[in-house]
Amino acid sequence: MTVTSGDVPSDIRIRQAERADLLAVYRIEKASFASPWPFEAFERQLSDPGFLVAVEEGGGENGGGVDTANVIGFVVADLVPNHGQPLGHIKDLAVHPEFRGEGVGTTLLRHGLKSLQEQSVSSVKLEVREENDGAQRLYSRFGFQPLRRVPRYYDDGEDAIIMIRQAMK
Ligand SMILES: CC(C)(COP(=O)(O)OP(=O)(O)OC[C@H]1O[C@@H](n2cnc3c(N)ncnc32)[C@H](O)[C@@H]1OP(=O)(O)O)[C@@H](O)C(=O)NCCC(=O)NCCS
Repeated sequence: MTVTSGDVPSDIRIRQAERADLLAVYRIEKASFASPWPFEAFERQLSDPGFLVAVEEGGGENGGGVDTANVIGFVVADLVPNHGQPLGHIKDLAVHPEFRGEGVGTTLLRHGLKSLQEQSVSSVKLEVREENDGAQRLYSRFGFQPLRRVPRYYDDGEDAIIMIRQAMK
């Protein structure tokens, strides 16, 4: 999948993640979270249509025609079983520190939600650190609302807030 977006500079595009992107994705993960996912966790998501990367056009190629040199962010959106009606799950979202505040996270989230919508998901959930006000604001703008708190959800003891977005439009 290759899509362009209207709300970030035109030299950014969103496409499905490829194996060759994983190292860059993992580096962004490590630069973004105190308890990063292990590399293998991203490998397991590879075939998932909701594992998307934002790529800065004009980066290098890996020889196979895949532009991997400038992966600047990613989103992992997948489905979880939920009494016969799968629930969407934004599992991970991060943008390279040098590219934050330029609309890339917003665009990734929009495309992640669109991918879930294409898989006939109606509601979407996510977990966010209690103190991650920036991310919570971003999610609120997409209609996510706090549902409940999970005490000590993260390895360092911080609580998670479960946010849910009902009935996607
Ligand atoms: C959260 C994150 C993905 C947003 O990506 P981004 O490209 O900076 O997001 P955008 O440029 O699209 O900004 C979207 C909104 O995010 C919010 N935001 C994100 N990070 C913020 C921060 N550090 N401080 C304040 N607001 C922030 C703002 O509400 C912003 O809206 P605005 O443009 O009206 O100010 C990025 O900050 C990031 O990678 N953070 C570390 C990882 C993380 O916390 N991921 C979310 C896990 S639940």
